[in-house]
Formats: sequence, C-alpha cells, structure tokens
Amino acid sequence: MKVMVVGGGAREHALAWSAARSPRVTTVVTAPGNAGTATLGANVAVDPLDLPTLAGAAVGEGIDLAIVGPDDPLAAGAVDALSEKGVPAFGPTRLAAQIESSKVWSKEFMQRHGIPTAPFRHFDDPRPAHRFVDSRPWDGRLVVKADGLARGKGAIVCDTLDAAHEAVEALMEQGVFGAAGRRVVIEQRLEGPEASLFALCDGETAVAMGAARDHKRIADGDRGPNTGGMGAYSPTRLVTGTVMEAVMERTIRPAIAAMGAAGRPFTGFLFANLLFTASGPYVLEFNARFGDPEAQAILPLLESDLIELIGLALDRRLAGTALRWRAGASCAVCLASAGYPEAVRDGVPVTGLEHVEPDVLVFHAGTARQNGATITRGGRILTVVGLGPGLAEARRKAYDNVERIHFHGMQYRRDIGDRELTAATP
Ligand code: GLY
Repeated sequence: MKVMVVGGGAREHALAWSAARSPRVTTVVTAPGNAGTATLGANVAVDPLDLPTLAGAAVGEGIDLAIVGPDDPLAAGAVDALSEKGVPAFGPTRLAAQIESSKVWSKEFMQRHGIPTAPFRHFDDPRPAHRFVDSRPWDGRLVVKADGLARGKGAIVCDTLDAAHEAVEALMEQGVFGAAGRRVVIEQRLEGPEASLFALCDGETAVAMGAARDHKRIADGDRGPNTGGMGAYSPTRLVTGTVMEAVMERTIRPAIAAMGAAGRPFTGFLFANLLFTASGPYVLEFNARFGDPEAQAILPLLESDLIELIGLALDRRLAGTALRWRAGASCAVCLASAGYPEAVRDGVPVTGLEHVEPDVLVFHAGTARQNGATITRGGRILTVVGLGPGLAEARRKAYDNVERIHFHGMQYRRDIGDRELTAATP
C-alpha cells in the first residue's frame, strides 16, 4: 500500500512512522511533511487546506490510503474531497468533524445525548454575553470559548469576571481569532485534573486507543500562556482500565451512536479531553483527531498494526478488535523555538540529532532541510520520546536525549511526567 499522511507536525511524523512499520505498507508520503517525515518517504508540497490540489496530488501519487492528521483540513472537508476522488481517506467527514470545529454544535450535541459536560450558554452577540457574565453565573467561575478552531488557544479560563469580559471582548468584538470567535460558548469552570482519551472509530464501533496527559502551558508548574502542548506521557493512573471502560461507555460510545443516528457517522480518531471532578469525568471537549503531543506518546506503545486497524475502521469491521500494547510507559518532551507560543524566528540550525540514542524517537514538527542542515520553521520543533518499563525510566531516557539536541533559544519543560511520579493523585 502507498499511504499518504496529511499534515506537517510531530503527530503526523508519528502517524507516518507507525504506518511505515506496517508490513502492508511499501511507501509513505507526507503532505506537506517536515524534515523528519522526509526520512520515511517523499514529502508532497501541498497545502492541506487546498483541497482540490491535495486530492489531485493523492490521485497523482496513486495513494491507497490517506490519513488526515490536523483539525483544520478535517474541518474543511479533506476526507470528503479525497473520498470524492476515490482515495480511501481515514478521518471524519466535514460534518462529523463539527464535533470539534463548532463548540456550540458539540456542546448542544453532548447535552442532547446526556454526555457529561460543563453547563453552558452560547452567544452570537457580545451584549448579552457581557450581561450574562455580569449575572455571575456559577459563582463567576467561567471559561469563554471560541466556537470555531483557534489553533488550540480558543478556550480562555477566567479567574475573574473582568477576565471573562476581556475574553468576550477579545473574541467577539476585537475578533482575535477572526470568524472562529464571533460566536462563543460561556461555560462553568470545573476543577480537577485533565487527561486525553482516544478511540478508534468506524462509524458504529469505538475501540479505546490509549490515554495520555498533555502539558498545555509553556512553563514548568503549569505556568505561562497556553501552547499546542509541551509534552505528554502515557499511560496515566488517572485512566485505569476500569476508568477507560467507564468513559468509553458513558461518553465515547453514546457519541458514536448519536453521530451515526444524526447521519454524521464518525470514522477516525475521537479524542475526549476529560476533566476528572469529584463527581466523575466530564468531557471538556471532543476533538476529531489524534492529539499532539499525545500521538507521539501513545503510538510508540501500540504493538498492533495501525494500518490494519485503519483498514478495519474504513470497512466498518472494528467490532471485536482487541488492540495489542507494548508493556511500559512513554514520555514525550516537546522542544520549542524561542518566543513560542508568540512570534518565533525561523531558520535556526538544529544540531545534535545524530547523537540521539537509537532507542529514542524524535518526531519532527517545525523543521526543514536547508543546505544539508536541519533548520527550525515554526513554534514547536521536535518531540523527543523516551520509552521504558515505567514512566521514571521513560522520562529519564527522554531528558537524557533532549540534552543532546540544540538550537539557539530552544525551550522545553523540565517537568513532563512529574505530577504522575510525585503526586498521590496525578
Ligand atoms: N494536545 C491537545 C490537542 O492536540 O489538542
């Protein structure tokens, strides 16, 4: 099979790496990819949001299976465009991806189907949104969310009413996220630890595909601004086998059944961003894809053949499938450019990759090749993944190898996995 992975981040490098391990696969191409995916097969220089060109390239390359990684091409209808050209494509259709791409649609969907989620209201006009904030709903403990996709920065957790007013103003009046923020959800801020749970779905059946914990803030101790994710580890004590099964039963399976009944069958990776409260897990949001950096932590632990699993999902034959996992744990540490998550400078040489130990994985994100050297191109540059019999060993392996890599201004968190290793409740 010739497989195309659509996207250019470390999640897509991890997906391409997993695909390349399958004995069914002869060739992996990535569109547009990065310097890391180029070591697995060709990069195809297309913009994943330019759907006619993407679909044309897949046909031209003779692709047997396309796997779409990121949220925005899924929301734009990349799977629909590829399928219309006869290219089997794994991921939700545009309509099914609305479970992520419209927070209003998704929250109403969860409410309608009894899936535990925080109480909320939604607004199309800033004036009633400000009045609602002034009414101090839920004791003024609020999260303001952009309805649409906002590069992972669209959920603003507010410590004060003033902060909630500012969030409404920024999203709805100043338009900091453009059309994505003209409509907002205002929801109750719940308290508790978060985890990410993944399911592989075929439109009817959902199979659990691991859990991980992300580290969204830029700095150690969960300080500083939100990022796309600075590191993850898997598994986590928060999501034991029993909890995983309970969450599948209470949230994922009802969602898949309801999506099918609504004429939007969900095929792809369904990602539940969970918050564990004293009264049980709530879905903060659903995402229509694998997480980044969660994919980099989870996929190296998967022993089953990813391409076989995806084939079963596309044929609606997942029922009864049991996934095989490698024993042990993973720790994924993201290395980012100076200035991230704000403006960054591209073109900084990355050195030391050749000194990384052979049993450590380095998934590239914002990298390119120039004059025989690897250079930075973006905010998150690499994810270094250590594996081990337990998280402590995996973490040590990851950080030992992070220290072998260098680029000017490189920033990373030094506490990935610490809460799992030190806290009674991670
Ligand atoms: N790590 C969070 C996300 O992928 O949205």
